[in-house]
Amino acid sequence: MEQKYSDLIIRLANGISQRQMYFDTHPRVVATSREVADQMAALAGETDADALSIGICDGKFVRNKRYLIGPSIAGRALVDFAARLGCGGFTFVLPLGADEMTAFFRLGADRSQAYASLAEARAAFARSGLANIDLAGALSEGGEDDRVRAADQTTADFLPLVGIYQDMYDTVSTNTQTVGANGSVDTGRAFAAGTRLAGMAGQGGLDVMQFLRYPDYDSYTIGHSVRVAALSMLLARDLGWSQSILAELAAAGLLHDIGKGRIPPEILFKPGRLDEEERRIIETHPELGARILLDNPGSSALVLSATWGHHLRHDGKGYPAMPTGHEPGIATELVHVCDVFEALTAHRPYKRPLSPRQAFELMLREEAGFHPRLLSALIDTLGLYPPGSEVRLSDGSEAVVVSRGSALDRPLVRITRWMNGQAAPEGQQPTLDLAGLPDLEISEIASVGLAGEPLPC
Ligand SMILES: [Fe+2]
Repeated sequence: MEQKYSDLIIRLANGISQRQMYFDTHPRVVATSREVADQMAALAGETDADALSIGICDGKFVRNKRYLIGPSIAGRALVDFAARLGCGGFTFVLPLGADEMTAFFRLGADRSQAYASLAEARAAFARSGLANIDLAGALSEGGEDDRVRAADQTTADFLPLVGIYQDMYDTVSTNTQTVGANGSVDTGRAFAAGTRLAGMAGQGGLDVMQFLRYPDYDSYTIGHSVRVAALSMLLARDLGWSQSILAELAAAGLLHDIGKGRIPPEILFKPGRLDEEERRIIETHPELGARILLDNPGSSALVLSATWGHHLRHDGKGYPAMPTGHEPGIATELVHVCDVFEALTAHRPYKRPLSPRQAFELMLREEAGFHPRLLSALIDTLGLYPPGSEVRLSDGSEAVVVSRGSALDRPLVRITRWMNGQAAPEGQQPTLDLAGLPDLEISEIASVGLAGEPLPC
């Protein structure tokens, strides 16, 4: 439920971003409008509700008095829209059709439009045929409606990451577009974004970046590159690598798939299986990327090598073919491990995401492909159950993961449903440390967390 709600928020934000790039009748805008309308109906149907509300406080999404960290970082377009409207959230009175969602995206995409008051914004919605979308007044922490717990203020202040995420996202997006139009790549911007991210390495808040998972259906190369950058940095930080290497690794993550900008979109985004020739073309992207970087000033040996070699396996297989007697450098192998893990756990239009546990099991079966020390360090860094994951325990009860805990496979969990099937009411949901309860274990993962839980930052 939490995951579906977070997905909905991010897809609403995606709809606004897509409408900024395209037009009302573009297939991607039409498809997202339909998907969002269907998703809202399905979500409301699960709880027998006739309306869905999304609250925003202090630039972050709120649900059940908690900040939603993943959507707050990845769903910026919707937060920005609310800020322009001067509202504290939206209430969607159902049913809403795809045409109404397109009109919502159109209003959201028009960044030139300013609203002097909430009344004026509501009037604009009514004129656009959106009287069924109500704009809530501004929310405040500890305010009258008590929608945000004061306690959360201290535990989840991840706002600095919001700007960094947006910066990284825009860097990859702009570079991919200009490279696709045979323009040049702005390596300086990628290094600047990487340096900003590396500047947060000493602070716990950076760990939030690993939990970003989102349905990035339009441009998954972009979300993928941002997450590979964050994962590579987290892993290198835990390995004790220097600050300057962290910044270079973040830049490498942002640039490693830049060659995909020159792969024809009908092959890159082809639904279904690729034929042999299409696969060969896709597999040219590391080499293409390295050439693009060589043609532009400001790159570094680490970034070049990681871009060229990020599909090379530890055992020498993979592509492009490696000259005899050479092996990939350790930084390249680090980006490779993070790249594979990200691809396995990502939402893609054609596959379900694996949980971190499933992804690591698969990688361990193929362990010759990965540098053993790097793979085990990544497992240690990320843990197996991200906070916010909904899990079933061996006694039949249901819980939400709160934090990693002292053992990899035994996190701290908050019980939401008792073993007799009864829901545990808010305020009476005990937190259990599974590390101290050997008879109890996680038997099933219902959904992988989007970091809906407040995290220690
Ligand atoms: Fe790649």
